[in-house]
Amino acid sequence: MTGTVVLGIESSCDETGVGLVRDGELLGDALASSIDEHVRFGGVVPEIAARAHVQAMVPTLRSALDSAGLAWHDVGAVAVTAGPGLATALHVGVAAGKAAALALGVPLYGVHHLAGHAAADTLVHGPLPEKSVALIVSGGHTSLLAIGDLVRAPIRHLSDTLDDAAGEAFDKVARLLQLPYPGGPSIDRAAADGDPDAIRFTRPLTGQRDPALGFSFSGLKSAVARYVQSPDPGISTADVAASFQECVADTVTRKAVLACQMEQVETLVMVGGVAANSRIRALAEERCSAAGIELRVPPPRLCTDNGAMIAAIGDLLVRAGATPSTLDLGARSGVPLELAQLAG
Ligand code: KG4
Ligand code: ZN
Repeated sequence: MTGTVVLGIESSCDETGVGLVRDGELLGDALASSIDEHVRFGGVVPEIAARAHVQAMVPTLRSALDSAGLAWHDVGAVAVTAGPGLATALHVGVAAGKAAALALGVPLYGVHHLAGHAAADTLVHGPLPEKSVALIVSGGHTSLLAIGDLVRAPIRHLSDTLDDAAGEAFDKVARLLQLPYPGGPSIDRAAADGDPDAIRFTRPLTGQRDPALGFSFSGLKSAVARYVQSPDPGISTADVAASFQECVADTVTRKAVLACQMEQVETLVMVGGVAANSRIRALAEERCSAAGIELRVPPPRLCTDNGAMIAAIGDLLVRAGATPSTLDLGARSGVPLELAQLAG
């Protein structure tokens, strides 16, 4: 066997993910989720998530290796999400990653969760072009980034949300509409039967004086809350869900295409949990193709948190000859994305 098998471990939120990647190829992966345990609280409870990671970690490692048809001794490097995310949850993955690297005598790479999201796309569409724009839309982040190969070229932030992230808005609006957690998939499903033009929610930060690439979703959430207090009798929950979803889809795809034009790049990489949204995917496809931009978006299961994406960024670091992290590696819950690797 040639090339290094990289084991990736993800535990930043409510998914325990493990993946195995070698030379850009996904060999196998496994995922355990504690979502069901959070539903009655309407959001992720950090202590519950951490305990679930502890329980799921070893079985998930085992099933990822089994799905790849590999044994522990085949693993040549370990990559683990060191941040950002819930501190209690991150600690579990970091401890597991250190233990695996130490026991196997292989290098350890602490990695940035968001760089992992972007790297997920390379597993399906191959190496990234020299320059592209990444739209990261997740539960905790909404950003436009100018990226290169993710591991050597610096990552430049073109825009970060001023308040709520897009996924956060989906989750909060779902609560307002009494749709179950996690809100994104619930709204996506409900919206399928609704009219996206039923209510014209104001597109945030799209005025003449607003920052062209700026994101803000808390005003939209408040607009939905106001609407829900005195709803129009002829309008269903599905219509509200569809109208809200249309507003987010319109805003993020419009700004992503504009960022590509401003940066003069021909490729948009759309990643993160919200990139699993059916309407956002369809509108991004339509607008990118009209603008002559190649859209790269991973399949939905690689958009939401998973271990394969962490193995993917680890594999890019290994192949770039990056210096491994030390066993002093800690969890960094609020770390901004500057580099794919988070050292000790
Ligand atoms: O990337 P991710 O799995 O975790 C973070 O790193 O935050 O993103 C989770 C977010 C949640 O807010 C969830 O509601 C949202 O992604 N999400 C969706 C969909 N699937 C997941 N949002 C809209 N439509 C979806 N189909
Ligand atoms: Zn994520």
